Amino acid sequence: MLIDGTQENMPQQFIPLCVPEIRGNEWEYVKECLDTNWVSSVGAYVDRFEEMVAGHVGTNHAIATSNGTSALHIALLVAGVEPDDEVLLTSLTFIAPANAIRYANAWPIFIDVEPEHWQMSPQKVIDFLEQACDFQNGEVRNKHTGRRVKAIMPVHILGHPVDMDPILAVARRYNLMVIEDATESLGASYKGRKVGHLGHMACFSFNGNKILTTGGGGMIVTDNAAWADRAKYLTTQAKDNPVEYIHHEIGYNYRLTNIQAAMGCAQMEKLEEYIAAKRRIAATYNDAFSNVAGLTPMPQASWAESIFWMYTLLVDESEYGMDSRQLLQHLQELKIQTRPLWEPLHLSRAHAAKQPQTLAVSEQLNRQALSLPCSVGLTEADQARVIAAILQAKQ
Ligand SMILES: Cc1ncc(COP(=O)(O)O)c(C=O)c1O
Repeated sequence: MLIDGTQENMPQQFIPLCVPEIRGNEWEYVKECLDTNWVSSVGAYVDRFEEMVAGHVGTNHAIATSNGTSALHIALLVAGVEPDDEVLLTSLTFIAPANAIRYANAWPIFIDVEPEHWQMSPQKVIDFLEQACDFQNGEVRNKHTGRRVKAIMPVHILGHPVDMDPILAVARRYNLMVIEDATESLGASYKGRKVGHLGHMACFSFNGNKILTTGGGGMIVTDNAAWADRAKYLTTQAKDNPVEYIHHEIGYNYRLTNIQAAMGCAQMEKLEEYIAAKRRIAATYNDAFSNVAGLTPMPQASWAESIFWMYTLLVDESEYGMDSRQLLQHLQELKIQTRPLWEPLHLSRAHAAKQPQTLAVSEQLNRQALSLPCSVGLTEADQARVIAAILQAKQ
């Protein structure tokens, strides 16, 4: 995916997948940091950005981090995930949450997604806990590995929430922590509640392709003051006495800078506008494709308000006449950038070697899915070009 700047020098007619939208107070706020010398990891903009994100999500606390991956790493540590623990994770997602689990020296257990909304399957979570685990002395143990299962990490992929209620219920029953990977879904709601305010903690990303960007950045949100304090402590090198440089634990240099936070504040001012743009783009694509044989537009559950962060459709070769990768190639030739979804993590050599398995829904979605240009600033003319190209390519 493209990030800031990469679209420079590209021919006019190239339509990128998803690029940032920077047209608010970013310049003014960043200049203020430079003018006042508040450029590093403390400053008024860091505090303000945290307040703005917490205010939007509805949590009592927010802790800004250097990126979404570091936010996930710290949230796992704060949740009490220890070396050799297991964490249940969506199989169809970007690799970052699985990496974060390994940074904590724990192990991801990949859970398939459900076919309707492409999110972590609550039933598969329940099946795993009830059939593959023992529950003794308040702890869940994987019967196969003997390891403790400590947490569940649902990932709200593509801007759409996971069906959280059954996951939260089973987590309560088995005493498990729930850390939402909400990096792709700032602003989405589940049954009227904001994504990020559903589990014990949640993490956001402000990477270049996200709905809001700080260039790179992340955030941990929670209602729990002790967890928030611990997250702040761990992300700032675990300073026990900052004057004497006394440290009782190994910490991390994971804080967001004031410059990045300044950009984040300006971006937050536009969040509702950007979400509205994403929803408009999705509605236009849905109208165009919903009656085309072989194309399945991105779903939205009746209980969800998706932000349609990365508009994605499914391509069924037998009815459309081309598979998703052939369509990708075809659109590439027309200077329209598209992308498949991620290799399911249970197949990734980085993570899966130890647990060969088939997770059929993730694999099917990976074969069929294609993400279409959906930048907040996508023009009507460019979207019409994308739609026409896809309709004309149908055989
Ligand atoms: C699902 C998911 N989790 C985690 C991340 C990591 O965020 P970051 O790139 O800010 O480290 C991303 C995106 O980049 C993501 O899409």
